[in-house]
Amino acid sequence: MQSQFKQIKVWDFPVRAFHWVMVVLLGALWWSADAGEMSLHQIFAYLLLTLLAFRLVWGVIGSDTAKFTHFIRSPKTVVQYAKDKHKPQSLGHNPLGGYMVVLLLSLLTIQLVTGLFATDDIFTEGPLYSYVSSDAVSTLTWVHKQNFNIILGFAAMHVLAVIVYLVKGENLITAMITGYKRVKGELLHPKMTCIWLALIVFAVLFAAVWFSLLADVVKYM
Ligand code: HEM
Repeated sequence: MQSQFKQIKVWDFPVRAFHWVMVVLLGALWWSADAGEMSLHQIFAYLLLTLLAFRLVWGVIGSDTAKFTHFIRSPKTVVQYAKDKHKPQSLGHNPLGGYMVVLLLSLLTIQLVTGLFATDDIFTEGPLYSYVSSDAVSTLTWVHKQNFNIILGFAAMHVLAVIVYLVKGENLITAMITGYKRVKGELLHPKMTCIWLALIVFAVLFAAVWFSLLADVVKYM
């Protein structure tokens, strides 16, 4: 029997937008910190904070493949998947990749939270700087600097993994751009959540970040 390939929508627009805007913002955060453009650094950080908060909410209420319950699998499943010579096709993140996603999202969370308490000892202080002791500020600033290198290391591993899949004939990058994956055989189409819900959630989160953090920085630019 001839094998049947079909195009299936695996990533909704919110996940794809989250991914690529996050990549751009990480680059912008790196550049702004390096160039001492600390107002811009704060603006980019608050935008990333909004985006990350959105992704965490979307991981609960979003489309099937965006949900944490869809890609956080038991350690037994992960070991089985890693050992499997003929790996089954995954519609979203595979069991191993799911843990990399959790790790990257956790590292980004640590980066953003520590940044709220950090200082450059010149002009810029995070908005929560004055709520903790100076020892805590020093530690959190140190974590903020070191964690960025850890993010770079794991992001490099993540990109390398994507390239390995590409070389082996599975193009995950196109799927993260178009949303569609070419799959073989009969697989159920993942359920996609309505884009309007994503826009409403994003707008609420953006308003919260704007009024509590962003507006002040933009005003004094
Ligand atoms: C140009 C470089 C990059 C490429 C080509 C790329 C590609 C991809 C691809 C293809 C996926 C889907 C993987 C799958 O099918 O399971 C993905 C997911 C993901 N990537 Fe990247 N990536 C890049 C950079 C980054 C960076 C710098 C980060 C941040 C540290 C990152 C974080 C993530 C996260 C968190 C996901 C999960 C998306 C979600 O479920 O919301 N990526 N990436």
